[in-house]
Amino acid sequence: MKKVFVNGYGSIGNRIAKFIKDDPDIDVIGIGKHSSNETVQHVIDDGFSVYVPEDKIDDFKNYDILGSIESVLDECDLVIDASPGGSGFINKKNIYEPKGIKAIFQGGETIFNDNSVADILFNSRVNYDAVFDKNYVMQGSCNVTGMGRILNPLREKYSNKLSRFDVTLVRRWADLEQTDKQIIDTIEMTEQPHHGTDVKSYFGYDAPLFVRAIKVPTRQMHLHIMDIRFNEDAPTPDEIHNLFQNEYGIAVIWTAKGTKDVRDFAESTKFNFKDTNMLHIHANMTTSIGDTIQLMYSDDQTGIVIPENYMLLQAMLFQRAYDDALKRTEKLFNMDEKKKLLEEHFSKS
Ligand SMILES: NC(=O)c1ccc[n+]([C@@H]2O[C@H](COP(=O)([O-])OP(=O)(O)OC[C@H]3O[C@@H](n4cnc5c(N)ncnc54)[C@H](OP(=O)(O)O)[C@@H]3O)[C@@H](O)[C@H]2O)c1
Repeated sequence: MKKVFVNGYGSIGNRIAKFIKDDPDIDVIGIGKHSSNETVQHVIDDGFSVYVPEDKIDDFKNYDILGSIESVLDECDLVIDASPGGSGFINKKNIYEPKGIKAIFQGGETIFNDNSVADILFNSRVNYDAVFDKNYVMQGSCNVTGMGRILNPLREKYSNKLSRFDVTLVRRWADLEQTDKQIIDTIEMTEQPHHGTDVKSYFGYDAPLFVRAIKVPTRQMHLHIMDIRFNEDAPTPDEIHNLFQNEYGIAVIWTAKGTKDVRDFAESTKFNFKDTNMLHIHANMTTSIGDTIQLMYSDDQTGIVIPENYMLLQAMLFQRAYDDALKRTEKLFNMDEKKKLLEEHFSKS
């Protein structure tokens, strides 16, 4: 059995911990908490042991914590760092690297410049085997994971018939549970979004991919508006939808008026955390015009990266074959069933 420590219990960390604890080959030996607040008790009530930074132990005397993060890491095989963007790099330098512990980092970090946490950015659909021997790997952010999942099947099927991808990322402001985060009534523009460069790290730096990003006042998922250009007449919408019919973690839906419809359905169907854990191609919006396919898909921001973290964990800790890892992922996340329910509920007729 491998021992895993989850450092951070926010939107991403708490989901990861609650799913992976059901893998019989993994022992979640603890959770790292950094602020002494009521969430400490929630973590304990969820059945996990809490560890805190050595220099903050006194702040947590009202809670039943087990010790310091620095000490528990000596017993662990891998850390999943789910800290706020940028803190993962500091944790790597201060704790993981000196202790020689493997770590997974999240999408708020970078693999570029002096703050790089790893030399590879993971997308299970693209480079699963490439992380087998790595000590440090960054899981792509939700938007980066989503784009890779759409672009890779297109590249496999159409390869040199593709001439250009233009993507507008319409990003959510905050997550559902981030109730302390105010939604501001504005459309914010993002200068130099990292998403395109991140995708190109596995798609090729010369890929003709051009990404713009804006942030809008919603908690209900991201929406990607993608124009896919061909150097000949574009395929029909049906052909594009068929391409994604058997893709893991992509549902093709027709009648959702907006992203909240999808989230509400996930809630009504009692999916964990109201997450679908996948992308949803809004097939009613697909058009084929001359050399271009216009595509829109929504991206479950909190859910999509959780099965990806689990795939990554399996690659780094067990070097499991891809199909085996996918089978085990399906066992924990029931994505095929979720996809079926979504496609039935939002079917064409
Ligand atoms: N939210 C999303 O939809 C989403 C999707 C994909 C990727 N990501 C990425 O996932 C990472 C985590 O995001 P999140 O949304 O889960 O953030 P979050 O909800 O703000 O949670 C961050 C957690 O990190 C803890 N923390 C604070 N300082 C820390 C430190 N120095 N070391 C370790 N943990 C620390 C916080 O604990 P305390 O409360 O105890 O301070 C909190 O539990 C980011 O890189 C983000 O970009 C987020």
